Amino acid sequence: MTLIRSELIGFGHYLPAKVVTNDDLAKIVDTSDEWIRTRTGIVSRHISENEATSDFAYNAAQMALKTAGITAEDLDMIIVATVTPDNTTPSVAAQISGRLGTKSGTICTDISAACSGFVYALTMVDNMIRLGQIKTALVIGAETLSKLVDWTDRNTCVLFGDGAGAVVVRAREGNGTSADTGVLATKLYADGSHYDSLRTLGGVSTTQTSGFVTMDGKEVFKYAVNALTQAAEVVMQQAGVTSEDVDWILPHQANIRIIEGVGKKLNVPEEKVIVTVDHHGNTSAASIPLALSENYAAGRLKKGDLVVLTAMGAGFTWGGALVRI
Ligand code: UT7
Repeated sequence: MTLIRSELIGFGHYLPAKVVTNDDLAKIVDTSDEWIRTRTGIVSRHISENEATSDFAYNAAQMALKTAGITAEDLDMIIVATVTPDNTTPSVAAQISGRLGTKSGTICTDISAACSGFVYALTMVDNMIRLGQIKTALVIGAETLSKLVDWTDRNTCVLFGDGAGAVVVRAREGNGTSADTGVLATKLYADGSHYDSLRTLGGVSTTQTSGFVTMDGKEVFKYAVNALTQAAEVVMQQAGVTSEDVDWILPHQANIRIIEGVGKKLNVPEEKVIVTVDHHGNTSAASIPLALSENYAAGRLKKGDLVVLTAMGAGFTWGGALVRI
């Protein structure tokens, strides 16, 4: 049976040049390299000096278009997953469209699903491609989390980093089996009863500011391990594969203990679990596309590899995608 698949044909990423180590943070808040490493697995993160989210997104987009071998004119849609846009309106996607010089009519929108944003965006694009509404899309995760944290709050400021990742997705005919390339299965979830567990204190319509991130770390931690595992299991089941068939598990990069917990629950060996949290920190919606592109550029992820993407974040939102590169 032939059916339309969304093939991932290009990968790009961008990180700001400034690297902030745990020791650097220990100079501004009461923390230590030892605490941050053992509790989170983070060693360093990239922090924006004077670049905005759109600058990261633009650079990642250009790299993705180049590796895909297409131009901006080929794009039918740009979607940016972010909670840190340059302006409240218009979208970062519209800005990228203008800067790249896409044709008039290219659909542009941002999506707010926090750390699950990239998986949400990829799922929506996949559905639009399979319905025949678009053929080629740029899916970007880009964040400047450093602007959303209180740099005097050691509970949060040590956790986050800045950056962007982008993927070019294009319609391609498949035969409906798990041997196809592209997006093979997706599943999204949310549970708004956890709204207060991870959020900004304030926003445009309440405080006329963007507010700083606050969270109940322990609750998020426990929920994350189960939610990330559930989403991964469901997309594998949908495609009729098991964790033994999968080449890589790529969970959202928030905390090494969460990532290892998911690997254990899925019964996959450590070497099949992609980890970038050590040098990126938690980059929210950027974490998965950033890890995809970095590992693809390094030759670790290869064409034909079967990869489970799984993410969880504020809302709570969570979801997974099974993709063959
Ligand atoms: O992307 C989704 C969003 N976020 C996450 O997935 C994060 C999920 N949660 C976590 O990763 C972890 O809960 C944290 C890393 C945030 C915290 O780790 P924890 O093992 O749950 O620590 P805790 O909250 O129980 O804090 C233990 C202690 C506290 O001191 P007391 O009250 O026991 O005296 C904190 O005040 O560690 C203290 N603490 C710190 N100490 C040194 C909190 N932050 C720091 C810090 N440096 N940066």
